[in-house]
Amino acid sequence: MSEAARTIFQADTEAARERVQGADAGFLWDFWYPALRSGEILGRKLAKATLLEVPLVLGRTSEGQAFAMRDACPHRGIPLSYGRFDGQAVECSYHGWRFEACTGRCVEIPSLTSQDKLKVERIFAGHYPCEEHDGYIWVYMAHRDRATAVNASAKLSETIPAVPALKVFSDRYKITHLDCELPSHVDQGIIGLMDPAHGPFVHSSWFWRSRHSIHEKEKKFEPIPNGFRMSPHSPSANSAPYRLLKKMTGEPVTTTIDFVLPNMRTEEIRSGKLWFSSRATVTPVRRDLCRIDFVAAWNVPLPVTIFRAFAERFLRQDQQTMIQQAEGLKHNPNLMLIDDADRPAKWYFGLKTNLLESRRTGAPMKHPMDGPVTLHWRS
Ligand code: FES
Ligand SMILES: [Fe+2]
Repeated sequence: MSEAARTIFQADTEAARERVQGADAGFLWDFWYPALRSGEILGRKLAKATLLEVPLVLGRTSEGQAFAMRDACPHRGIPLSYGRFDGQAVECSYHGWRFEACTGRCVEIPSLTSQDKLKVERIFAGHYPCEEHDGYIWVYMAHRDRATAVNASAKLSETIPAVPALKVFSDRYKITHLDCELPSHVDQGIIGLMDPAHGPFVHSSWFWRSRHSIHEKEKKFEPIPNGFRMSPHSPSANSAPYRLLKKMTGEPVTTTIDFVLPNMRTEEIRSGKLWFSSRATVTPVRRDLCRIDFVAAWNVPLPVTIFRAFAERFLRQDQQTMIQQAEGLKHNPNLMLIDDADRPAKWYFGLKTNLLESRRTGAPMKHPMDGPVTLHWRS
């Protein structure tokens, strides 16, 4: 390629990169997201995942450390997932450049001769902090500028928060994982997750509640860092499982539900020594696709198979609804958020806007709630 051609080529790539960065898909960068289940990276297998429209290649070193790289060779862009992995370095399938898996640092360019002065170790494949927890491979989706900067990852790992962990309250417990893809933007997935008013319509069934059992509810909410909490309360008296739990322990049942940015709803149910703890995250894959990852742990006498049957049914009901909603959203209708049932959704959008604003200005983040609030709705 001539110098002139090379310059044009580079300018084009730069412009394309800027266009991509400029097109804001409404994702929240600089957070941990679950990419895969732990069992999906085994041995020397390379696995693929997409988070926030970033293609990733993931694997596990011979020492067992999970890693995540951008699934594109920095030489000519071919996905590294077509390459080979020996437990330490990923070798590109095109010209055999080799990259250390955990740092992305280039360790070998086979075409170089002793005449060449290229500093191989200065070349990096895009890579992201990666950790394993609660049965998931988590990837910290640093903003592109930070993720690809040479040597950025060492500095990054000192400043990033800990990986989210599911709370458990005893040594022995059961745990199970479920997931479900939704054909919608992550915002729709999240406001669906926190929406109290769809229960009697989407999830009506004999064991949960029927639409005729709708009654007025009063729930207290309070601001917490990066989110909000439905203050500890006794759960809905018209749900059979809660009534049962109360019978078993003879003690009151309390539920605490938190939502925190970017995408996480956790729920803790406790009654005496018995507890149930769950977390749902909605992870953006592309702007038109997100995935719910649901993990639950408990010590209540409830077999995993029974719980899974109910939870799967719940998730399918939500998924079905979101598939139908996506059909309507294709035509860009005007939408509304009403008080009080959609107030949590308004807080979510407020949190997101204020977080981005605080990152932009460097000023402390303003919380969209002034203090505790009581909401009323019928469900
Ligand atoms: S494209 Fe990967 S080594 Fe050339
Ligand atoms: Fe639902």
